[in-house]
Amino acid sequence: MKINGVDVESGIKRFGGKTDRYLKVLHSFAMGLEIDDTPMEITFSNENAEESSKNIHKIKGVAGNIGAVALYEALVEFENMQRTGTLDNILYNNIWLRMKETKESILNATGNAADIEQRPQGSINELRDLLIELLLTLKISEPTNCEAAVKALSAKSWKTISGGELDTINKAILDYDYDKATEAVNKIVLNNNYKGVSEAVNEKAVKCLINKNISVLIVDDSKENLSALRGILEDSYTIYVAANGERALKVADKNLPDIVLLDVVMPGIDGFETLKLMKSDSRFLYTPVIFITGSGDSFSEAQGLMLGAVDYIVKPYNPDIVSIKVRNQIENKLHRDSLEVLVEKRTEELRKSQEAIIFGMSFLAERRDLGTGEHLKRIKRMAGLLAECLFQKYPEVISLKEINNIASYSPLHDIGKIVISDTILLKPAKLTSEEFEIMKSHTIQGADMLLQTKELLDSGADNLMVAVDIALYHHEKFDGSGYPKGLKGEEIPLSARIVALVDVYDALTSRREYKDAFTHETALDIILNGDGRTQPEHFDPLVLEVFKLYSNKFIEKQHNI
Ligand SMILES: [Fe+2]
Repeated sequence: MKINGVDVESGIKRFGGKTDRYLKVLHSFAMGLEIDDTPMEITFSNENAEESSKNIHKIKGVAGNIGAVALYEALVEFENMQRTGTLDNILYNNIWLRMKETKESILNATGNAADIEQRPQGSINELRDLLIELLLTLKISEPTNCEAAVKALSAKSWKTISGGELDTINKAILDYDYDKATEAVNKIVLNNNYKGVSEAVNEKAVKCLINKNISVLIVDDSKENLSALRGILEDSYTIYVAANGERALKVADKNLPDIVLLDVVMPGIDGFETLKLMKSDSRFLYTPVIFITGSGDSFSEAQGLMLGAVDYIVKPYNPDIVSIKVRNQIENKLHRDSLEVLVEKRTEELRKSQEAIIFGMSFLAERRDLGTGEHLKRIKRMAGLLAECLFQKYPEVISLKEINNIASYSPLHDIGKIVISDTILLKPAKLTSEEFEIMKSHTIQGADMLLQTKELLDSGADNLMVAVDIALYHHEKFDGSGYPKGLKGEEIPLSARIVALVDVYDALTSRREYKDAFTHETALDIILNGDGRTQPEHFDPLVLEVFKLYSNKFIEKQHNI
């Protein structure tokens, strides 16, 4: 196709080779050009000068993109003359004439391009398909197509769809308000009982998303520019669009795009402000943003890069450069994402090996008196379980991180026993009071060892403070009758209050040289009601309450050896 003043070939290329869409956009662009029959006097000295200049600049950008070369060159010339103060009425009229000719030649050539209104009246199935198309284009496309679909709906003049409903959809589309437009379409679907529409839409949408799991948000107040960028990128990515900064933030919030192409000059908040707001949300901190700037606008380029944009694209677009720049940034992002996954994996491996070492250390201490290490495994399981139960009932008193730490470090509670001599640790008879004092020191000795370990490990070992607390305080009692410091109530760290209870429970339900293992019920009764030696006042009432409430779970843990 040949159109005077238009480089159709490069225009189609800028639309990703999509001729139909290109011609429609070209047509609607020419229709929107406000050029009447009589050339106007120059009005740029009046109070609207700034706004008029902005409009001219905007039209120039679009004209360049869609290949309207003659118009583009005329406007470049116009801006140059305006800037240098050399614009006079004769030159202005010349430029105006070229604009008018371009408009006419475009309309002559594309007059039949927007023939969608002439579709014959169809069946309910066709209406259903149109609704699906509309919903889908709303979801993954730009408004040009939506408008066409709405026009088609209007042209059908179905009795079941009121003018008001169509107006609502139209307005929502013009505002790029996907949610509102979808709601309006869904209402039509419901009112007309078009069963299966939603399912069909979802199925189609899901297929699109599966094929294109990388998403690009394009933000530009020019629908022609949006359409061009969409044409270039839509075959490779899922596309979301927004016509202004406010809408962009909403769309980004809902769809979490992988990359954003952001125009600078827009009504409302501009591209710079939009970028700032976006980057203040931690979810978008590492989302690459490419600015769209006018040619030669080096201020915007520098400003954008300074604010955290990763690159910029200059209008008129070179489609190859757009594709490459977007692909490069997406590859960088994917690489970064995969590195993050790798770091997470390595951290998890490190955590596991740290746990294994901790368990090994604890086992060394435990082996001398209790033998098999099963006691440690049970303490680990039950301390984790009791902490989880506490979280379930009172989420405000414990965090998920604390639960993990308590489970991980509870096996270290008796590590200080490693320095207690065999004669005391393995003595089959009752300890003398002097021996018992030495025995009690396993709490302080264990905490010291762990503190030293923590200092050796330097940073990154803050969690080990939980281990120190557990070792030092697991024999403290809530009523202040414990050791080594006789702490009371919440002076005792929560981790130690939890381990104290499971340590007692495990001792009661395990066999010793001097006693048989108590059943779960007996142990529970002793802990809840006391037996003279163990008393309920020894335990944190909150921890005790939770232990009672979920006590059945501990039978499984106890037996699951
Ligand atoms: Fe102990």
